[in-house]
Amino acid sequence: MPQLLPQGIIVLDFGGQYTQLIARRVRECNVFSEILPYNATPDEIRAKEPKGIILSGGPESVYAPNAPKLDPKVFDLGIPVLGICYGHQLMAAELGGEVHTTNREYGNATLRAIGSRLLEKGESRVWMSHGDQVAAPPSGFQTTATTDTCPVAAMESDERKLYGIQCHPEVTHTERGKEVFKRFVYDICSCRPDWTAANFIATAVEEIRTKVGTGHAVCAVSGGVDSCVAAALAGKALHKNLTCIFVDHGLMRLGEAEEVEKVFADHYDSRFIAVDAADQFFAALKSVIDPEEKRKIIGAEFIRVFEKLAGEVGECEWLIQGTLYPDVIESGNPVAAKIKSHHNVGGLPDWMRINVLEPLRLLFKDEARAVGRELGLPEHLVERQPFPGPGLAVRILGEVTPERVERLQQADAIAIHELRASGVWDTIWQSYAALLDVRSVGVMGDARTYENPIVLRAVASEDAMTAVAVRVPWETLERIATRIVNEVQGVNRVLYDLTSKPPATIEWE
Ligand code: XMP
Repeated sequence: MPQLLPQGIIVLDFGGQYTQLIARRVRECNVFSEILPYNATPDEIRAKEPKGIILSGGPESVYAPNAPKLDPKVFDLGIPVLGICYGHQLMAAELGGEVHTTNREYGNATLRAIGSRLLEKGESRVWMSHGDQVAAPPSGFQTTATTDTCPVAAMESDERKLYGIQCHPEVTHTERGKEVFKRFVYDICSCRPDWTAANFIATAVEEIRTKVGTGHAVCAVSGGVDSCVAAALAGKALHKNLTCIFVDHGLMRLGEAEEVEKVFADHYDSRFIAVDAADQFFAALKSVIDPEEKRKIIGAEFIRVFEKLAGEVGECEWLIQGTLYPDVIESGNPVAAKIKSHHNVGGLPDWMRINVLEPLRLLFKDEARAVGRELGLPEHLVERQPFPGPGLAVRILGEVTPERVERLQQADAIAIHELRASGVWDTIWQSYAALLDVRSVGVMGDARTYENPIVLRAVASEDAMTAVAVRVPWETLERIATRIVNEVQGVNRVLYDLTSKPPATIEWE
């Protein structure tokens, strides 16, 4: 197998809330970056042939009994290392400097840099979020920046190619943050800007061809961006040896199943099979109300349908899926709490026999969209809002029945239609209607009603890790509420969800 990916930057994850952002910022410089757990061994790191290493922030104090530590030999690999926040403190502590616990500092500060390889001379606004700070750098290091409260806000040993910075250059509040990454990846690590959609496509196509060989693969498509991009990549690699399978679980939005079939007829030349498996899914979901159980059941039914169809397609050993990097990172993080089993990662059943190939597993959503554009997919497809694999099942609280799905589909179609016309559509990452299982009293005509509410959700987000409610114009909300209550049977109230993520999540289940 050839070296599959361009040489890039390894980000060692010490549990910081901004670790993914660090990887994104590096990739925005067109340099590949990969996140590894903090305890990756020097051999594992060397095997990736990185041009540089970044140590992320983290919630612990370096002196805490269970503080995550790296093997100090990482500093002697001859590969440049940049420590950020906790990574900066860890570098200082491990190499003989002093770290002190101080008052927690959270927010903006002014960084004064003397001018060095990493930091341009001058003052700039930076974002701080730390408890400990470096009081004295290790010997051989020079202090390269200070703030009013931080005597060693940045340090470096240019001779050893080791650099530390207390603030967070990866967050947008740090005004010259991008420059810090550019200086590190280009000037210090000599990376080339070779992480591009075109290069990714070339290597991903090669990977698919090498793995599947002369065999046959099926690609599970849902009509969403991720699976459509995965299918287009796989199609480029395998041509007629790929069959795309669309399982209509009966939990799609209004008219969506027909739309998916049309997209594949218009834009793909691989074989395409659509299966109506709604009855099977509804039967399996009967009386189930627990969100995790719903997700597990849907994941298992998916695989059952695929395995059966894959068998009918012929010799078929591979299932291609559009799993993205955030799902992979979250599923593989030993310290993070599990919030939801994404059906395409945690929900796969133990008895699954088919091999899974996930060509987009290293991409963030915006990168998958760029790959889709490069592959020539139409803009309306590439720009589609994310839609969860378990579909409307996780937007129907309580039991999922065909009647409740139909009710939600109608309400959702009204909401989306009005939001598109609202003037805020372009700021929305995801928007939808959810159906609750509580009932409330209302009055329609002269009669009492006792029915379910619909909740509207419209959030802005960069990568679905955090999200805030969109300020939808009041008139739009009113029009949506009036139309839903008038046009959808069994609904007598409409609510707007103002909660951000965290503490809520984007989906209701
Ligand atoms: P939450 O609800 O966890 O969702 O804030 C984050 C993003 O993930 C989507 N999502 C899923 N996508 N399979 C998927 O492919 C799933 O099981 C799944 N559950 C949630 C969600 O729509 C949002 O974009």
